[in-house]
Amino acid sequence: CKLVILVSGGGSNLQSFIDGVSNGSLTADIAAVFSNRPKAFGLERAANAGIATEAIDHTLFESREAFDAELMQRIDHYAPDLVILAGFMRILTPGFVQNYHGRLLNIHPSLLPKYPGLHTHQRAIDAGDPQAGATVHFVTEELDGGPAIVQAAVPIEAGDNADLLAKRVLTQEHIIYPLAAQWFAEGRLRLESNSALLDNTPL
Ligand code: GRF
Repeated sequence: CKLVILVSGGGSNLQSFIDGVSNGSLTADIAAVFSNRPKAFGLERAANAGIATEAIDHTLFESREAFDAELMQRIDHYAPDLVILAGFMRILTPGFVQNYHGRLLNIHPSLLPKYPGLHTHQRAIDAGDPQAGATVHFVTEELDGGPAIVQAAVPIEAGDNADLLAKRVLTQEHIIYPLAAQWFAEGRLRLESNSALLDNTPL
């Protein structure tokens, strides 16, 4: 299963994929890592792992569509089976999403459908929620709204702030995201009429 992974920042989720491939828990091949930010540390993580990297600076493009068209064209050069958004902080156009229908995943740092959008951990703390977490989902045209595949929940502790909570959630992200990709690699996970279907029959 050939992966292309898109990052914008530190790339800790990317690192969990790199580690999963090298320890054999993720039977996939990371063909390339793209970032919209040339200085994203995630690109350094990829380069350190000997993975091809491409930076496409979105500020150099006239429109969202023009950026997405260039990104798609360069991604399709690798002919991925699955495209992974891992801390990729760009809203993608319908054209991009349609091009990768059923083979485009994202991880969102909340227990969707709660808290789509930004500042998810602060919002959970402010709401007095007992838990927070992360959701791996298929990407559809609805921002942060695609069918959920797997979630992880963590307690919100007394005295928590957004940073402490984010760290606790990230630890779980690094478990559930490669797991979802592994299910896809095993041919057990698919998007069908806007639902995520996981085949649970033992291999
Ligand atoms: C994570 O909280 C992830 O849920 C969100 O981006 C944040 C940073 O991810 N999508 P990473 O460390 O760059 O993988």
